[in-house]
Amino acid sequence: MDINLIRKKFKDLYNQSGNVYASPGRVNLIGEHTDYNLGFVLPGAIDKRIVAEIKPNRINKCRVYSIDFDDSYEFELGERPTKGWALYIYGVIEEIRKKGFDIGGFDCVFGGDIPVGAGLSSSAALESTFAFALNDIHQLNLSKFDLVKIGQMAEHNAVCVMCGVMDQFASVFGEEGKLIKLDCHSLEYEMIPFKTPGYRVVLINTKVKHSLASSEYNLRRRECEKGVAIIHEHYNYVESLRDVSLNMLDEFRKSMTELTYRRCSYVIKENQRLLSTCDALKTGNLQTFGKYMYSSHEGLSKDYEVSCPQLDFLVEIAAKDEVTGARMMGGGFGGCTINLIENNKYDTFINEVWNSYTKKFHKEPQVYDVKIGNGTRRIE
Ligand code: GLA
Repeated sequence: MDINLIRKKFKDLYNQSGNVYASPGRVNLIGEHTDYNLGFVLPGAIDKRIVAEIKPNRINKCRVYSIDFDDSYEFELGERPTKGWALYIYGVIEEIRKKGFDIGGFDCVFGGDIPVGAGLSSSAALESTFAFALNDIHQLNLSKFDLVKIGQMAEHNAVCVMCGVMDQFASVFGEEGKLIKLDCHSLEYEMIPFKTPGYRVVLINTKVKHSLASSEYNLRRRECEKGVAIIHEHYNYVESLRDVSLNMLDEFRKSMTELTYRRCSYVIKENQRLLSTCDALKTGNLQTFGKYMYSSHEGLSKDYEVSCPQLDFLVEIAAKDEVTGARMMGGGFGGCTINLIENNKYDTFINEVWNSYTKKFHKEPQVYDVKIGNGTRRIE
């Protein structure tokens, strides 16, 4: 994102200048739909980001201009916007106000290069940008953990998606060249250097945006909670699927619907896969890592049922072309696959994906190389 463009627009609109902040999107190598089940995830921030220039305006109004939508919107503090993209900003402001901070309005211009609806968490990036910026401007002394929670709660309360903590955590805590092994229960985390010599990691965007994604997302969450509630009746220390082993789940298989069983078993297996993946990554065993990616996809597609024909198709081509690892990434129902591929197989694979995907779905996929970048910050 060109910062000068933001600065110029800000100057044109408000005839002054403010502070500039940037916050990235994220990838997740493995551990999908595990965060709200208090398991593990393995995301990293990417080199695509939202950039915003902000200046308090001493009135109780937020005046915001989105470069990408070429659209402006104005709302009073506390007034719920009717415009979709402004909800994320409103949500962050409300969460900060709920903490008792009396922040005023501001003028703002923002833009970014994170493709929207591609499963790269452009919404978390937007939330983190504003949480970080308002904390910095008003010197609220909130910790990075607070900023993550503010973004997540904005998503729950303003956008009504009951997301886990992964996206906002990766956006705020990201570090160049490192993945974050995050325990979503304790919020303890370990930075794991992401080295894949001889390989490339690429995203392929299906360009499918599924309108049911957020309602289905909330439904998956409730199905997991149903499973936990059944087990909790007998083992009262069980608070989330994190506390449940496959053996324990099997014990209660007859007390739950087959659907609940499948949803829960996927999550438990995905957590185990993540832990094994981290071991493989640390010893440089990328072949094993790749195998776990494929089994993660299989679980997401068959048992958790959050894939779609386009994502499945891309993973099938990857398997046929002997790509080391491939799977859908993020919430699902569209967005990107993430692929781990040997350098010498890259061209053939990308060509084939391009031709066959375009032919079958009458849509050109988009390909991005993954670069792990830094988290939210102020740009001087
Ligand atoms: C979305 C949510 C995350 C996480 C993923 C699936 O990106 O925002 O919290 O649940 O889906 O892993």
